[in-house]
Amino acid sequence: MVNWTVDSRSKSDTNRIRNGDRRRGVLFKGLFMGLFGPLKPLHRAEEDGKALAKTLSWPHLMALGIGGIIGTGIYTLTGVGAGLAGPGVLVSFALCGLVCACAALCYTEMSTLIPAAGSAYTYTYSAIGEVAGWVVGWALILEYSLACSSVAVGWSAHLVGWLNEGMGLQLPAFLLNAPHAGGLVNLPAVLVSLAVMGLLMIGARESATLNILLVIIKIVALGAFIVLGLPAIQAGNYDPFAPYGFIGQQIGGEKVGIMAAAAIVFFAFFGFDAVSTSAEEAKKPGRDLTIGILGSMAVSTLIYMLVAGVAVGVAPFQEIANSAEPLPHILREIGYPMVAGLVGLAAIVALPSVILVMMYGQSRIFFVMARDGLLPQAVAKVNKKGSPALITLITGIFVAIFAGFVPLKEIAALSNAGTLIAFIAVALSMIILRRRFPNLPRTFKTPAYLLVGIAAILGCAFIFYSLPIQSQLFTLIWMAIGLVVYFSYGKWHSRLKREG
Ligand code: ALA
Repeated sequence: MVNWTVDSRSKSDTNRIRNGDRRRGVLFKGLFMGLFGPLKPLHRAEEDGKALAKTLSWPHLMALGIGGIIGTGIYTLTGVGAGLAGPGVLVSFALCGLVCACAALCYTEMSTLIPAAGSAYTYTYSAIGEVAGWVVGWALILEYSLACSSVAVGWSAHLVGWLNEGMGLQLPAFLLNAPHAGGLVNLPAVLVSLAVMGLLMIGARESATLNILLVIIKIVALGAFIVLGLPAIQAGNYDPFAPYGFIGQQIGGEKVGIMAAAAIVFFAFFGFDAVSTSAEEAKKPGRDLTIGILGSMAVSTLIYMLVAGVAVGVAPFQEIANSAEPLPHILREIGYPMVAGLVGLAAIVALPSVILVMMYGQSRIFFVMARDGLLPQAVAKVNKKGSPALITLITGIFVAIFAGFVPLKEIAALSNAGTLIAFIAVALSMIILRRRFPNLPRTFKTPAYLLVGIAAILGCAFIFYSLPIQSQLFTLIWMAIGLVVYFSYGKWHSRLKREG
């Protein structure tokens, strides 16, 4: 059962709180058990050999967050977003920032309340029930694995472009494209996925420390873009500000407008949630996770607003709409070809940190799902360094296959769909646990929790609604497959079921 945290209150106070919350807990439990399966206890000591080593502190977690957030989204999707919304893409970025800030607050409360690995999956399992938890875990595969695969493919494109432009090297086309695009395999994307997997298998701390260096490189590159671009802004480029409107319209079968752009640039914002997947490995979860999640979110949103503002202020939005590398493109246009090359190089060097964070998150989620019995238990073993090596290997291979053989187009939208489902579930879980256990001592409390929670839910739902219809359909099919898997395997092997 729930393992209560006793704070500085007197013993009688603590007992009164326990009894009051227990009564509510029984009521909620009764309501949810029938509908969504059993609830996972909030805190459960893990068995020897199955707990992860506590090696991470807040600088690691903040770097992990920024490492996950700043990546392909800002480096490449700024152009796509500008094409869909015009200069109004600034509003798309601001809206996503706002929705993600609400979600980040919910994540922070949940990750400090339940400092166990598994992130949205674990929170939903504890708050709503096993079936809902499984569905969220299944959605997280879309988020994490497809984000890894997309960034790996984006990285490959940057590398190829840089080798071509900078060194005059031409690699054989059949090794650079997935089969559908006239190639055999996207080899660089496969190799970068496997290299990151290798790093993770060495151990979390080493990987996170390297990540700090990569984060610095990314921030310096984006800082250079902002500083050099600011003086070149022409006010006329902001007019018309929203040529396709807010909700938008369909042009050539494609949704356009500020919300359609928001549904794509949303990709640029997530990644902070990967911090919460490492909750079990944080030395001081309360302090480390709060600073890690909210800090990385705030820094990234600020940088994005500046980069997007400069990008659409310097160049007419149509010009960057189709560029795979809008930032170096703009720098070349305003007379900084050397810096453009360096910013491109920074993307090549630093984008693997996004894969690192996402693959880390994915392997931890698979690990926890296996530990809970919803996936085969044999894969949940940790090695001497406290790292779940086998599950990391499986995750890495899974990501490499997608990166090598699946088209990039649509992958970001699908990754967004999975993330939006997870964010909605976390906000809902936060609200439910507040109602169910209002007096449980919380290290971090979401301010105005109902308002923030509902804003996160509605904001994410609206962004999901703005996604391309094919992505929405694919997501529904994916979820249906997940339910079949659960009812064929997880439901019968669940650790909660076995332990009664
Ligand atoms: N936010 C991450 C990126 O933009 C996924 O690459």
